Parts: sequence; structure tokens; C-alpha cells
Amino acid sequence: MTMAYSDTPVIWDVDVDFVSGSITAIIGPNGAGKSTLLKGMLNLMKPITGSTYFWGKEFREIRNKVAYVPQKESVNWDFPISVLDVVMMGRYAGRGIIHRVSRSDREKAMNSLREMKMEKFADRHISDLSGGQKQRVFIARAINQDADLYIMDEPLAGVDKNTEQIIMEKFKEFQKNGKTVIVVHHDMNTLMEYFDHVVVVDKVIKGQGLCSEVFKDVTPMEWMTRRK
Ligand SMILES: Nc1ncnc2c1ncn2[C@@H]1O[C@H](COP(=O)(O)OP(=O)(O)OP(=O)(O)O)[C@@H](O)[C@H]1O
Ligand SMILES: [Mg+2]
Repeated sequence: MTMAYSDTPVIWDVDVDFVSGSITAIIGPNGAGKSTLLKGMLNLMKPITGSTYFWGKEFREIRNKVAYVPQKESVNWDFPISVLDVVMMGRYAGRGIIHRVSRSDREKAMNSLREMKMEKFADRHISDLSGGQKQRVFIARAINQDADLYIMDEPLAGVDKNTEQIIMEKFKEFQKNGKTVIVVHHDMNTLMEYFDHVVVVDKVIKGQGLCSEVFKDVTPMEWMTRRK
């Protein structure tokens, strides 16, 4: 796959195999094309060349099975919507705009918030939360979607260690239940502890596979800065 915003490609000849049932980190420096890669995979941007298949199917066939949390800075939450509504929104994708919210929809959303310890904030306006709290709400929204594939762009950016633990435990639980988790990650210190697979991106794919293989002879930091 090759992706571009105008004429200049920002990532090219990307050929990645994500492993079903893995917790995979996508790493690479700022501007490497990590977010762009996700957008291409999720049909949010049209690639110049190439396509993505999920379990052999095109995105539109499995879109209800995918939960996506975009990079924090790219979301504008200035419109009036409550935390609970944000969490429930995830489930309406693909169900049409007119859908009555049932009591069980609400209860389910409250449970998802509870898992992220955010139930107290259900009625608060989403823009009146701190950055880390917002991030928890987005994870709760992803949880609420009952997806098979979770794609998250830097979910741990700007959250405290406690929140980080809560989120990572959730990812491990997803994995135990047979789900796949793909996460853009920037902290090289926790990479090996949190993830089993890795994709190294810097405009091209520099490496991919099991963390233990990719980082057998070089540290994550050395990989990032290495020229290939
Ligand atoms: N909407 C846009 N229009 C034009 N260029 C863009 C746009 N979005 C991103 N780019 C450029 O594409 C390249 C890749 O951006 P991308 O957001 O994918 O990087 P990233 O790896 O996610 O970086 P970061 O770690 O900072 O999030 C960068 O050079 C960026 O400036
Ligand atoms: Mg990014």
C-alpha cells in the first residue's frame, strides 16, 4: 500500500501482515506515517495503490467488528455530547442513524465506563474532561463495541501510569478472548513488556514480526534510528 496527502507519498510499498490474536505495536518516529497507515487500513483515506484485507475480507464487510480510537490531537470534541453518548456512539456504526437507545444499551455503556473507572462522569460533557480521562472514555467506547479487532492510535499518550495499567490489562483480556489489538506506541521502555508483535515504520516498513525476533540483536531504540 502507498499513501499520500497530495502528490508526495508519505508511506510507500507498505506490506504488513498483522497476526490475528496478537497485541501488536506500531512504532516509528514522528511523521513516520503510523497514523496514515491506520487511516489507509480503515478506509478513512484512499491509498494510491494497494488494499487491506481482514481475515481475507474487505474492510466494509467487517467494519462492525473493528473498534478504532484515533490519535487524541485529531479529535475535536467541542460539540455538546455527554460521556455516556460518546460511549454509546460506537455501537451505532452500521445500524443507521435512527436507532432508539434502549435501557440495555445504556446499561451496557455504563458497564463499559465502569471498566475504565469513568462511570462517575457519565453525564459530564466530554470536553469537560482532562486528557487522560477522555482517553479512558475512548477506550470504554471501544470496549462497548464488542469488536474483534481493536486499532488504537497512541492510547497511552499522556495518561498516567495507573491509567496505562488499566488500559493494558484490558488489552491482555481482549487477547485472552481471542481478539486482536493493534496499537501505535511511542514508549520504547515498555514496548517489550506490553506487546508480543511489532511493526517498525519510517515511511517504509523497516521490520515486523515477534518482538523477541525483531529485537534479538538490536534494542527498540536502535531499530528506530537505524537506516536501512
Ligand atoms: N492532513 C494532512 N495533509 C498533509 N500532510 C499530512 C496530513 N496528515 C499528515 N501529513 C503528513 O504525513 C506524514 C505522516 O504523518 P502521520 O500523521 O501518519 O505520522 P505519524 O507517524 O502518525 O506521526 P506522530 O508520531 O507524530 O503521530 C507527515 O509528514 C505529516 O506531516
Ligand atoms: Mg500519529
